[in-house]
Amino acid sequence: MLPAVIVVLMLISFTCGENPAIQVILTNKGLQYGKHVGAGWVQDRLDLVTFPDISGKILGSIYYTVSGVTITKCDFPEPSIEFYPNITGFKSSTSGLSVAVTGKWMTHFGLIHDRGSFDMAILNMDVTSVVELGKGADGHLSVASVHCEAQIGNMDIQFHGGASWIFQPLVGHFKGRIKGEIEGAICPYVEESIVNLEYHLQAMRVSLAVDENFTFDLPLTGIPIINTSSINLGLKGEFYNTQNHTDPPFKAQPFSVPEQPGYMLSVGLSEFTLNSASYVLYSAGLLQALITDSMIPPYLQVHLNTSWMGPYIPQLPKMFPGLLMDLLIYAREVPMFSFQPGVVKLGFQVAVKAFAIQPNGTQSPLFKLNADSKLSGKVWIAGGSLKGSVTLDNFTLTLASSEVGTFKTDTLERLMKAGVMLAVGKLNVELGKGFVLPRTRHAQLVNTVLGMEEGFIAISSDAQVVLTDRGFN
Ligand SMILES: *[C@@H]1O[C@H](CO)[C@@H](O)[C@H](O)[C@H]1NC(C)=O
Ligand SMILES: *[C@@H]1O[C@H](CO)[C@@H](O)[C@H](O)[C@H]1NC(C)=O
Ligand SMILES: *[C@@H]1O[C@H](CO)[C@@H](O)[C@H](O)[C@H]1NC(C)=O
Ligand SMILES: *[C@@H]1O[C@H](CO)[C@@H](O)[C@H](O)[C@H]1NC(C)=O
Ligand SMILES: *[C@@H]1O[C@H](CO)[C@@H](O)[C@H](O)[C@H]1NC(C)=O
Ligand SMILES: *[C@@H]1O[C@H](CO)[C@@H](O)[C@H](O)[C@H]1NC(C)=O
Ligand SMILES: *[C@@H]1O[C@H](CO)[C@@H](O)[C@H](O)[C@H]1NC(C)=O
Repeated sequence: MLPAVIVVLMLISFTCGENPAIQVILTNKGLQYGKHVGAGWVQDRLDLVTFPDISGKILGSIYYTVSGVTITKCDFPEPSIEFYPNITGFKSSTSGLSVAVTGKWMTHFGLIHDRGSFDMAILNMDVTSVVELGKGADGHLSVASVHCEAQIGNMDIQFHGGASWIFQPLVGHFKGRIKGEIEGAICPYVEESIVNLEYHLQAMRVSLAVDENFTFDLPLTGIPIINTSSINLGLKGEFYNTQNHTDPPFKAQPFSVPEQPGYMLSVGLSEFTLNSASYVLYSAGLLQALITDSMIPPYLQVHLNTSWMGPYIPQLPKMFPGLLMDLLIYAREVPMFSFQPGVVKLGFQVAVKAFAIQPNGTQSPLFKLNADSKLSGKVWIAGGSLKGSVTLDNFTLTLASSEVGTFKTDTLERLMKAGVMLAVGKLNVELGKGFVLPRTRHAQLVNTVLGMEEGFIAISSDAQVVLTDRGFN
């Protein structure tokens, strides 16, 4: 009865939880590539493995120590690894691992000391490890070992030097003892490595400071979702103001990224992430600008001057002759992005407040215009760069209020629309040059494709990892 209640509670808490705005999906192809890179890395480092000394007692009172054990040859078959949905984790097994080692032996029986060397072959060692993934308290990915098993198929020892003829008949005893020691040491070693990995995961930041005022929040929103072909990590993906963390008045909508087994990984980015950035900039009052006459590039041949505005607003030069003007432009609403198949749409509603600057410096309000733009854009990946283009779909200008009486806005609308189109053209030049895809010292994305879907962008990619001697640092 109780387990059933717990299951229901968990289901409720999942369905009521927030939706991730970013999903990262690792496919089996990615898992196998990761394993291949990892196995190569391990193989290269086997020479560096040190074995602990083993000491003990045989025949009642002969003490022995086995030391200086080093690997002379190692046959390290690539392990197998698979998604393990039963426990939301991975299962890895290495079978048929064979190692030849050499070392020194030493005995003492009362005052009689003896020493020599030995060669040992450990054959057909099998190691199976199952790790479980989960979500830590503050949204970190967590990993824990839930099962580990190590078994040595067979081993053989040859003693050399000293009174080794005494030991050779006791190989049976040594074998059992050393086999047990090695078998017993492997799982604690594996578990220690997993604890170490967990420590690193917990130390990873789940929010990134964009600058002193803005943070990009990326904790897990739930436990990883796993089946036999992929694992899906849902991340919050929200920008917020570090000084005043207010959630936006809209929520991330659920979306499902189609599985792309031909790529190592896929990332789904919801429009929510972009809109949360938009909300933060809007709330912080950063989506506004004061335009003065001196800021207008000369080639535009536009002057912010009451006389120059005469053809558009005839009464203006009569009421305020020969004065310079300022324009305060600000977003009236949070600019919202909407992702649709093949295209991203943006609605941008701004107000333009015009002031005349009196000779004594006083700003006299003149009028307020509402300018509404609808833009659509495309993004794609070419030559390792993210590129885009924007078009202006619609631009309307209406008079919201006026201190100088009404006037027609259609010619002013044509003028401002031409200005916006010029700005869009300049933006397209930059977007056409593109942005190089992010890469780290150890990994880069290759064969990256991008698709716009309803509510999200899906990026699928392969990765190329180059590990140096210093490993994953
Ligand atoms: C997973 O669990 C099911 C039932 O709980 C069991 O039948 C199956 O063998 C398990 N799979 C593996 C790979 O252990
Ligand atoms: C952060 O906000 C403060 C106060 O609004 C502002 O003075 C400062 O310039 C901002 N810093 C950055 C890097 O934008
Ligand atoms: C695994 O889940 C993904 C969606 O997350 C789905 O597309 C895929 O078909 C599933 N694979 C299997 C083998 O169930
Ligand atoms: C925080 O931001 C919200 C929404 O932008 C605003 O209503 C609130 O006054 C702000 N609080 C502080 C302390 O700045
Ligand atoms: C405003 O523009 C007119 C020409 O359009 C120019 O003669 C006049 O000097 C300008 N006024 C100021 C204050 O710049
Ligand atoms: C500045 O000049 C304007 C127009 O001449 C006038 O209405 C206003 O009172 C003056 N302001 C100050 C502070 O002198
Ligand atoms: C532009 O938007 C206005 C108001 O929303 C609408 O009346 C007009 O039909 C739109 N024009 C185009 C070309 O879509």
